[in-house]
Amino acid sequence: MTEAELYTLHKGVYMPSYLHTPKSLEYYEEFTFRPDDIIIVTYPKSGTTWMQEIVPLIMSGGDPASVETLPNWERVPWLEETHACNFNLEQRPSPRMFTTHFQYNMMPPSFFEVKPKVIYVMRNPKDVFTSSFHYYGTASFLVNPGPQIKFLHKFLDGKVMFGSWFDHVKSWLNAEDKECILHISYEEMIMDLKDSLARIAQFLQKSLDAEVTEKIADRCLFKNMKQNKMSNYSAVPREFMDQTKSEFLRKGIAGDWKNQLTVAEAEYFESVYKNKMKDVKYKFVWDF
Ligand code: A3P
Repeated sequence: MTEAELYTLHKGVYMPSYLHTPKSLEYYEEFTFRPDDIIIVTYPKSGTTWMQEIVPLIMSGGDPASVETLPNWERVPWLEETHACNFNLEQRPSPRMFTTHFQYNMMPPSFFEVKPKVIYVMRNPKDVFTSSFHYYGTASFLVNPGPQIKFLHKFLDGKVMFGSWFDHVKSWLNAEDKECILHISYEEMIMDLKDSLARIAQFLQKSLDAEVTEKIADRCLFKNMKQNKMSNYSAVPREFMDQTKSEFLRKGIAGDWKNQLTVAEAEYFESVYKNKMKDVKYKFVWDF
């Protein structure tokens, strides 16, 4: 199916209409945040599910039940998705945990008034592209990626769900109220998960001793998360997400783009990146 059939244009960016109905988008627009809410914000395929495992474990002091009782989409729900309206989020005790793929400028009015805590996870866009290319082929609510070169152009032009990676990252890097936002990358978590856990815990004002940190880091290893039925999307029916084509928790590494992009594609990617990111001062750790 085409973009027109599968996507809604909301605040100028494409979103899958199946998940993001007018009712859910209206619910989000009118949502009332609390100052101690924690929001995981990502461009899709940047490490959302990983952070949805990490944050509940940190907040619960490493209690496995925090990630074994509810599926990730109910545990740390996406505010823009239909099911958020049915989860009684208003009744949840503080601190509540949410997820969103919205760019900064798309956030609803209450966000700017209340200034809840944000953990913004970034990932090397070449790996985001690679992960997306596989994922788009599995999900019936997304436009099939088609040939890789065609999808590459769409990705770099922002004609994919949640718009341009460049706009997304720049919007959250340039966001106001920086003290309420922790910027962290997928690659930092790959390089040193325990150090990343310490940074996240400090931001969330939770103290973690060495034993609990070790326990959380172990649970959040790719191979262990893959076994968690509440995080590996195995509960999603095959007609919506066909994991026989590509698993949701697919490879879990940094640099897989080297196995995916041709030399010419990587060069084209770099030229677009250089141009779009020329004003960005943030020092990313990834190997571009
Ligand atoms: P790959 O497709 O490259 O394997 P999101 O949750 O934002 O949709 O991102 C999904 C990507 O994060 C997938 O990347 C997935 O494998 C990876 N991921 C999820 N959990 C992970 C973990 N514990 N360690 C490393 N990567 C993880």
